[in-house]
Amino acid sequence: MGGTAFKTQLLKWVGNKQRQAPEIIRHFPSRFGTYFEPFLGSGGVLGVLAPRLGVASDAFEPLIEIWRTLGSKPSQVKDWYAGRHALILEHGKEGAYARVLESYNRSPNGADLLFLCRACYGGVVRFRKVDGYMSTPCGVHDPISPDSFNKRVDLWAERTKGTKFVHADFSEVMSQAKPGDLVYCDPPYADSQAILYGAQAFSLRRLFDCIADCRARGVHVALSIDGSKYSGAKLCELPIPPGLFKQERFIELGRSMLKRFQMDGRSLEDHEVSDRLLLTY
Ligand SMILES: C[S@@+](CC[C@H](N)C(=O)[O-])C[C@H]1O[C@@H](n2cnc3c(N)ncnc32)[C@H](O)[C@@H]1O
Repeated sequence: MGGTAFKTQLLKWVGNKQRQAPEIIRHFPSRFGTYFEPFLGSGGVLGVLAPRLGVASDAFEPLIEIWRTLGSKPSQVKDWYAGRHALILEHGKEGAYARVLESYNRSPNGADLLFLCRACYGGVVRFRKVDGYMSTPCGVHDPISPDSFNKRVDLWAERTKGTKFVHADFSEVMSQAKPGDLVYCDPPYADSQAILYGAQAFSLRRLFDCIADCRARGVHVALSIDGSKYSGAKLCELPIPPGLFKQERFIELGRSMLKRFQMDGRSLEDHEVSDRLLLTY
């Protein structure tokens, strides 16, 4: 298993945890069976951990299509990226982006999402609430070259070769965990990420019920919670059932990209946040 610094990212995703992953992993039990990550996103913790046996899932289907393909046919993922990157030569960056975005919004799919998440503004993939259209504009940066992307695919395919990727709601996958397994949850943050990830409803209360079931079966659960929820008056809004968690740890985050994006680059000095990690063990 991994746990040391592995900084190369395959996807750009809101709430990516790769930078904090070594610190998060430090608090995992020293031994566990299968590793479950039911809110996979860009898999920041999965990539750093590189578990021997894993089940990684997300409710967002186009995203899981990328991961599944990485597992079954990495060359396809390379082709997807190279094909769309090649449009830049012909149409310029903005033109290429507009074409891929249009194709994605006509029919959401992993191949387009892959290019869009690498090329969009701030790596913040977000969707219009009314119709689920992806609405993020083209980024100011140049998307990485296909050569450099291919190397990332090889690294990630190697590190996730023991992991099965599943498209599912968290509850379905967490109910499969067995005694001694570990579940790491990084759910959407109800207040700061409500506009993201399309229309899926997310209920923290339902997650707490699943965590309680896991704990009762002898499954270890670690839960990342948005630190800003704990600041000042917001503390009481989290319906954490008393006694569900045994330990609580701070994980430093630094500045939040999401807030920088939403606030149009205004100063964020007062927005330093730290996540918390709640542990059932
Ligand atoms: C904060 S992000 C996870 C970020 C991840 N740790 C990373 O490093 O990129 C939360 C993820 O939960 C997913 N999600 C939202 N509702 C869900 C649900 N009901 N079941 C499973 N996944 C869900 C979203 O699609 C999103 O990818």
